[in-house]
Amino acid sequence: MNDSTNGHAPLRLGVNVDHVATLRQARGTRYPDVAEAARVAMAAGADSITVHLREDRRHIQDADVETLVQAGDVPINLEMALTAEMLDIAERLKPRDACLVPEKREELTTEGGLDVRGQLSAVRDALDRLHGAGIQAALFIDPDADQIEAAAEAGARFIELHTGTYADATDPGARDEQLARIVEAAAQARDLGIEVHAGHGLTRDNVASIAAIEAIVELNIGHALVADAVFMGLREAVREMRAAMDSGRRALR
Ligand code: PXP
Repeated sequence: MNDSTNGHAPLRLGVNVDHVATLRQARGTRYPDVAEAARVAMAAGADSITVHLREDRRHIQDADVETLVQAGDVPINLEMALTAEMLDIAERLKPRDACLVPEKREELTTEGGLDVRGQLSAVRDALDRLHGAGIQAALFIDPDADQIEAAAEAGARFIELHTGTYADATDPGARDEQLARIVEAAAQARDLGIEVHAGHGLTRDNVASIAAIEAIVELNIGHALVADAVFMGLREAVREMRAAMDSGRRALR
């Protein structure tokens, strides 16, 4: 517990640096340096660094994951599709954390959560392999009661709730409805003994309501942080995001 969270469970921040790599890949340069971004984010208050090694390698490259994991100074969370190739990479590199996400090549970003119910035995096998490699593995899922049940059946110890629909809602009523789904899903998962994380589409403006959900103990945030960094620098962007999270957390009763 720390003072900034008013005595409630502290909320960790995982900074996703994919879009630092997007900028580099846009020109095929060696800058900006993803490992340097990870160090700056950690120094500014991040608790871990997330990278999504997509099948099409559009931003993060294999060498980025290797460099970050092998440096050993920063806890790495590897977002990965449920494929044989990605499972082999995770087992070989052994990041501290991994998060299984659905992936379509044509999508702009991860759309929707993993369908755990529809591929229960494949998810269970993947979790067994990741656990066997000593990796803390999470499932990225929609705030849906049946998917959470399925995550528990698959042996998940961690889930990350998809906050994208909440973040995209422009109508206040729709946003409140999505928030209520996330509150309910987080409580359900916690009651099943699963640690709850959340992420996708979170910004300094919409993060407070998610930070105020006590069952959620970690947020993973990328795109908005890198966008803020264009104007204020990465260090300040991480600090401001932390401040917005902490102020939401203080609103817990
Ligand atoms: N969590 C997961 C599982 C994701 O796939 C992503 C996007 O890569 C994020 C969090 C971060 O989302 P955003 O970049 O919108 O903050």
